[in-house]
Amino acid sequence: MFFSALVTLSCIFSVGASQTITIQNDCLPAGGYTLCQNLWNTSGATGSQNSTLISSSTQTVSWFTYYTWADGPDSVKSYANVEAINAKGVQLSSISSAPTSWSWNFGTQYSGTQGNVAYDIWFGQASSGRPSTTGSSYEIMIWLSTLGGMQPIGSQIATGVAIAGHTWNLWKGPNENWEVISFSSAAGDINSFNVDLNAFFTYLVSEQGVAGTQYVQVIQAGTEAVLGSASFFTNSYSVSIVPT
Ligand SMILES: *[C@@H]1O[C@H](CO)[C@@H](O)[C@H](O)[C@H]1NC(C)=O
Ligand SMILES: *[C@@H]1O[C@H](CO)[C@@H](O)[C@H](O)[C@H]1NC(C)=O
Repeated sequence: MFFSALVTLSCIFSVGASQTITIQNDCLPAGGYTLCQNLWNTSGATGSQNSTLISSSTQTVSWFTYYTWADGPDSVKSYANVEAINAKGVQLSSISSAPTSWSWNFGTQYSGTQGNVAYDIWFGQASSGRPSTTGSSYEIMIWLSTLGGMQPIGSQIATGVAIAGHTWNLWKGPNENWEVISFSSAAGDINSFNVDLNAFFTYLVSEQGVAGTQYVQVIQAGTEAVLGSASFFTNSYSVSIVPT
């Protein structure tokens, strides 16, 4: 009786055990999210990366990634991230709030690292669309950490802008057919981020000329890796959109 109870328990644990992905474009279903490696530009680079789903539910996801990248300096190798399945398909003018919470840290494997910790949010004219496509109008990044002097695309257009209880330096520039606007934390790492993303969206509409008719097509949260090694942990992440 005791023995079979133990067997049952170990089976439950193995079903719920963490899963690791190692291949370039591997993804894993993760409750209300999808975890993807997205090693999108590793040609010319030396190294490897793997990403592990720790736990997930409809609301919250926990995961980590390990990477070691050398060569191909100044180019982003990967953006391991979680993408929300439901927080999308709403026009900016029709959003009441977009609460998000992200608690993260780098672990002990950490050396010569160049990269960031950032949201990558995609807007377009259609209600749905994939990132980096002809249907993309804007790529909005929110950098909670900048490592090793990495810089956002474009040039800096404003400093010390107060949004959602934090201060940001703004960068703007074109990439193919879409505009990239990046908010980079002006006060160092934000390891525990609890805000309403709608504060950024309303700022973009009122101050940066983004049309309120644009749809949020994709919200991703993860880490861009350029060089070096790191273990990056998302202890807990959630995002949702509440329409008006
Ligand atoms: C993931 O990467 C770490 C660090 O490089 C390594 O120790 C580990 O064995 C890798 N795991 C898998 C499943 O490849
Ligand atoms: C991809 O990496 C190569 C080699 O480092 C680099 O020359 C190229 O600019 C990168 N592409 C992009 C789009 O960043």
